[in-house]
Amino acid sequence: MNLKTRVCEILEIDYPIVLAGMGGASTPELAAAVSNAGGLGVLGAAACGPKQLREWIRRTRELTDKPFGVDTLLPASVRRAAERAGDGPSPADQVPDMQAFAKAFMEREGLPPVDPAALRGQRDPDEPGVFTKEFFEAQMQVIIEERVPVYASGLGNPGPWMNDLRAGGTKVMAVVGAVRHAIQVKSSGLDIIVAQGHDGGGHNSPVGTMALIPQVVDAVGDTPVLGAGGIVDGRGVAAALMLGAEGAWIGSAFLASEEAGILDFQKQAIVDATEEGTTISRAVTGKPARIIRSRWTDYWVAEHREPLPMPFQGMVAGPVMAAANRDGRGDVNPGFAGQGIGMIKAVRPAKAIFEDIVSGAEHALAR
Ligand SMILES: Cc1cc2nc3c(=O)[nH]c(=O)nc-3n(C[C@H](O)[C@H](O)[C@H](O)COP(=O)(O)O)c2cc1C
Repeated sequence: MNLKTRVCEILEIDYPIVLAGMGGASTPELAAAVSNAGGLGVLGAAACGPKQLREWIRRTRELTDKPFGVDTLLPASVRRAAERAGDGPSPADQVPDMQAFAKAFMEREGLPPVDPAALRGQRDPDEPGVFTKEFFEAQMQVIIEERVPVYASGLGNPGPWMNDLRAGGTKVMAVVGAVRHAIQVKSSGLDIIVAQGHDGGGHNSPVGTMALIPQVVDAVGDTPVLGAGGIVDGRGVAAALMLGAEGAWIGSAFLASEEAGILDFQKQAIVDATEEGTTISRAVTGKPARIIRSRWTDYWVAEHREPLPMPFQGMVAGPVMAAANRDGRGDVNPGFAGQGIGMIKAVRPAKAIFEDIVSGAEHALAR
């Protein structure tokens, strides 16, 4: 067995190792490093407004002449999450109460609020508000106009954009966490499906990676699958191949890279953490996500409070995370990460991480 699979042909890459799109963390520098090493770098563009997204795509093109991808979230998934709030007060009405709850946390933690003008200053006033329908549509317009080599939807179904993406020669992938989602996205005729299990960092599935991959593989017939969630080294890639995947979509292993767009104290939190260091929490985005356990995730549990659905929880957590970042508080905002982080021992260049994954996979497959 070797590391060449159909994924290499489809994506025009040397090794079927794909940098997961991690919002803000998978920057042009990181994506280009992975693409230059022979994998596919994918930009984590979920929160990029259209102007920044175009800049990121163009910068990536300056840094590599190899294929790369762009990952965003899609509107239906966010709308559905907001609608799932059920009866009672609407999530929008609950935002002020939850913001007061967050303020109490900040006072207790000695975290002064971030200047609202500085928070606003991060966004272009001419652009649509983040995670609105107009925002997602503007992002997709840029992706289509720029004819990016690969598009990956982190949540939701890229079906409505397939014709335009195809017309520009873009290959399309979608991340799923359940067989029924895999079947839904397959019906849109995309190229590759990513099966991301419960072990993975960020928004994830209730089903463990080892159980999810073969069930998705069996369900989607001849569509190639990338395995994801808790894959940090070559052994994990080899295991994903044994389960029927044709490559791996890897996030956390590349978070502790020099190029990743997270803060130094967050990289250190990954190096310091053990396999028990993460938890599933809705406290940051409103959707269940695997995150390094923190004083913020503990606060919601200890106070028996239910976070608001996405995108409303972001209005509650955003100012707290911004204050934690300003003050270097890794105990409040260590960031999302998967259960494999106990294997990560140092911050290294992405190229070195990539090369170790490839040689480790080849070694494991040879054995
Ligand atoms: C810091 C971080 C941010 C993430 N942001 C996104 C995102 O914006 N879009 C997305 O599709 N997935 C996102 N994910 C999930 C990853 O794409 C990927 O599925 C996951 O990292 C795989 O698990 P692993 O971290 O164990 O490798 C994120 C994961 C992490 C760790």
